[in-house]
Amino acid sequence: MTIIARENRRERYALPSLQKVPEHVAIIMDGNGRWARQRGLPRSAGHRQGTDNLRRIIRAAVEFGVRIMTIYAFSTENWSRPRREVLLLMRILEMVIDRELQELHEEGVQIRHIGELDGISGRLARKVLEACEYTRHNQRLILNVAFNYGGRDEIVHAVQNIVRDGIMAEDISEATINSYMYTSDLPDPDLIIRTSGEFRLSNFLIWQGAYSEIYTTETYWPDFGRTELYEALVEYGNRRRRFGKTDDQIEAALAFERQLQESI
Ligand code: FPP
Repeated sequence: MTIIARENRRERYALPSLQKVPEHVAIIMDGNGRWARQRGLPRSAGHRQGTDNLRRIIRAAVEFGVRIMTIYAFSTENWSRPRREVLLLMRILEMVIDRELQELHEEGVQIRHIGELDGISGRLARKVLEACEYTRHNQRLILNVAFNYGGRDEIVHAVQNIVRDGIMAEDISEATINSYMYTSDLPDPDLIIRTSGEFRLSNFLIWQGAYSEIYTTETYWPDFGRTELYEALVEYGNRRRRFGKTDDQIEAALAFERQLQESI
């Protein structure tokens, strides 16, 4: 643990290249409050530290070759937090856009928003849309910011829109529903990371996460640095994803793929 903390501080510690990199990583950034309490600080300090950490994790994700990252910044359930904390989280998003947008743009990050803009202030909603528009041609990393997002809410909206579009029941397939989700043009997350030792999805990407690998760590979000992300990706590389198939079927598919590679 100490070594990891030290490495995280040094940041650019050389790490062996990864065998298999997930294309889409989703993160439940949990533990800001506990991180602060542990240090006798107000919760706001935890959120600020968590925001700083987000910057280094975006950079590390780009470095490791992750193509899509989805972060859970504010859930539909977070409205029930004390009003002061809700306002702080709104202010943080605004501040991130004001202060980081240009740098994220230069780093090739395409910002997208998933969730509902209804309910947040008009000014913040406009800033979010402007940030998405400004970065929309960037290709290095797609960063989905789940803000005022809930997985069940997303499914409710999808169903409402399907009904509005007059689609007949017998024409509705998984592909139809998928095409009404916020992430319709993106692959599902390969890996969902949750920090701070919790083992729940908490209404995050519940449709898209059906076959995602889940990685949890005791580390609170503000301490989850580059090395920790690397470790999560290494563990992902060691997992065998079966998508409902048997081990024998997977083995046969891998052998076939190897043969194919050798014959090229
Ligand atoms: C969970 O920790 C974290 C959140 C609800 C907010 C996540 C926000 C950030 C990391 C800042 C970046 C934000 C934006 C808008 C880009 P918690 O407060 O639930 O921690 P606890 O479970 O220890 O109390």
